[in-house]
Amino acid sequence: MSLQIVSPTGGIQPLLRAEGVSLEYGGTRATHDVSFDVYRGDRFVLLGPSGCGKSSLLKAAAGFIKPASGSIAINGAEVRGPGPDRIVVFQEFDQLPPWKTVKENVMFPLLMTKRVSRHEAAERAMHWIAKVGLGGFEDAHPHTLSGGMKQRVAIARALAMQPEMLLMDEPFAALDALTRRKMQEELGRLWEELRFTLLFVTHSIEEALVVGNRILLLSPHPGQVRAELNSHQFDLVSAGSAEFQAATQRIHGLLFGTDPAARCTLGRTGVPPGLRRDGGVAL
Ligand SMILES: Nc1ncnc2c1ncn2[C@@H]1O[C@H](COP(=O)(O)OP(=O)(O)OP(=O)(O)O)[C@@H](O)[C@H]1O
Ligand SMILES: [Mg+2]
Repeated sequence: MSLQIVSPTGGIQPLLRAEGVSLEYGGTRATHDVSFDVYRGDRFVLLGPSGCGKSSLLKAAAGFIKPASGSIAINGAEVRGPGPDRIVVFQEFDQLPPWKTVKENVMFPLLMTKRVSRHEAAERAMHWIAKVGLGGFEDAHPHTLSGGMKQRVAIARALAMQPEMLLMDEPFAALDALTRRKMQEELGRLWEELRFTLLFVTHSIEEALVVGNRILLLSPHPGQVRAELNSHQFDLVSAGSAEFQAATQRIHGLLFGTDPAARCTLGRTGVPPGLRRDGGVAL
């Protein structure tokens, strides 16, 4: 199957709906009129060049910043601030308080939100620490861990909260290539088991294809929707195949304007002529 432009399915209520979102910093526009829907169980990727507003969109979905215009809703309710239903994993290794052990780091948000007793928080922490492959490191402090291990702690901490949506902003970008691949594999494994909803930011085309089932392509600054693609057929196993390489080339063309389809901007409901609602046409 080749890479397809898709239009979202009608009728099903999205978990997250971004509608005409423009984000600004002091009057400077970071994104312009961006619309997309994330459905339950999606691995939805925001892909675009540096400065196109990917992190800003993720922060707006997390409730850290408000759109200058447009809206973002979760389960039909407008996002008005951060909440335990949306947990963010960042790129930076210093997102873990260094004075807390691995276990304390994972327990911390559970205790802060008073969701569970200390005893249950400890049990949950141990469960998720084991799930991300860090069994035996629960009493370690972050500075004794590798970058990949720190990101595992951040993922365990996020999943322990059982959020509606996991938001990840280039979580593996600072890792070496082998560790990055391993983490992509583990994220896929966790998703296969748990089927959480993921909103994932990257500027790597390969990572977008491997991690995502749907990809929103954003133009350079200010970010606007270039296209929305279906990418569920790709994974780490297919990475390197001729089809994967062809998809990479096509996305490159769409992002940087060498592909004529780059001029085809898909809105959430707008379906350009020639595109089917049931999965779109091959590019
Ligand atoms: N706190 C801020 N104050 C002012 N401008 C900002 C702020 N954060 C982001 N911007 C600007 O908004 C635009 C989008 O930034 P953003 O960080 O969302 O891009 P990005 O796509 O995540 O880039 P990268 O791939 O480099 O992480 C950029 O022009 C950036 O300079
Ligand atoms: Mg960013």
